[in-house]
Amino acid sequence: MTNIILLGPPGAGKGTQAKRLVDGRHMVQLSTGDMLREAKTSGSEMGRKVADVMARGELVTDEIVIGLIREKLTGEAGGGFIFDGFPRTLAQADALAVLMDGLGQKLDAVIEMQVDDAALVSRITGRYTCGGCGAVYHDSTKPTKVADTCDACGSTSMQRRADDTEDALRTRLMEYYKKTSPLMGYYYAKGALRSVDGLAAMDDVAGAIAKVLDSAE
Ligand code: AP5
Repeated sequence: MTNIILLGPPGAGKGTQAKRLVDGRHMVQLSTGDMLREAKTSGSEMGRKVADVMARGELVTDEIVIGLIREKLTGEAGGGFIFDGFPRTLAQADALAVLMDGLGQKLDAVIEMQVDDAALVSRITGRYTCGGCGAVYHDSTKPTKVADTCDACGSTSMQRRADDTEDALRTRLMEYYKKTSPLMGYYYAKGALRSVDGLAAMDDVAGAIAKVLDSAE
């Protein structure tokens, strides 16, 4: 069992690669973004609280996301956990270390997906997702084979995120550089940080991640 964090700015390809690892290695994707969007759709009180914060591109409170992860960590672990979009602050990273310790689990690698900001605007504004199974597509780099029909599950419900605008992306990037990028130093100091080129083709990124996982096993 291998537990990893995928670390990178919005649009780095964390969700895309996490889904490949779920399919290929039976790992369990823990995406705090997906969990928060589910809470929003369900109309729960927490979902209503976070909706505006997320649409603006700001971070939700540590307390809320740590609570979400705590619940999931006691569930099915499959081939290991992929933390996607968590942790995003030093407080979240400390909390994760305590939670993993408590469960007798360890973090095997933190994979930084290196990209440059210029590529992110087109990745984010061109993204759409299947409402049925969550498969991720892109207008130009990964369109569905049949227009508006999911290749994986056949659903015709394609969705675009409220925060996938150039305006919200500016805020999301600012939040990333101010609050999340310090995690690189944190995990480097722990000897866990590995980097892959997130600008490479999706298959090549997947290959680089597979190498990291194989060497961590
Ligand atoms: P979250 O859902 O985590 O979004 P994010 O981190 O901004 O990342 P994205 O999902 O936008 O990008 P990704 O890296 O997964 O890219 P993808 O694979 O889709 O968070 C959303 C919000 O929730 C936050 O802003 C915050 O408000 C809140 N939140 C979540 N977690 C939180 C936390 N821990 N603490 C506080 N608040 C939290 O790829 C993007 C596009 O590029 C796709 O169309 C894809 O097809 C394409 N693509 C991917 N890889 C490649 C490639 N190699 N080449 C070409 N195209 C590619």
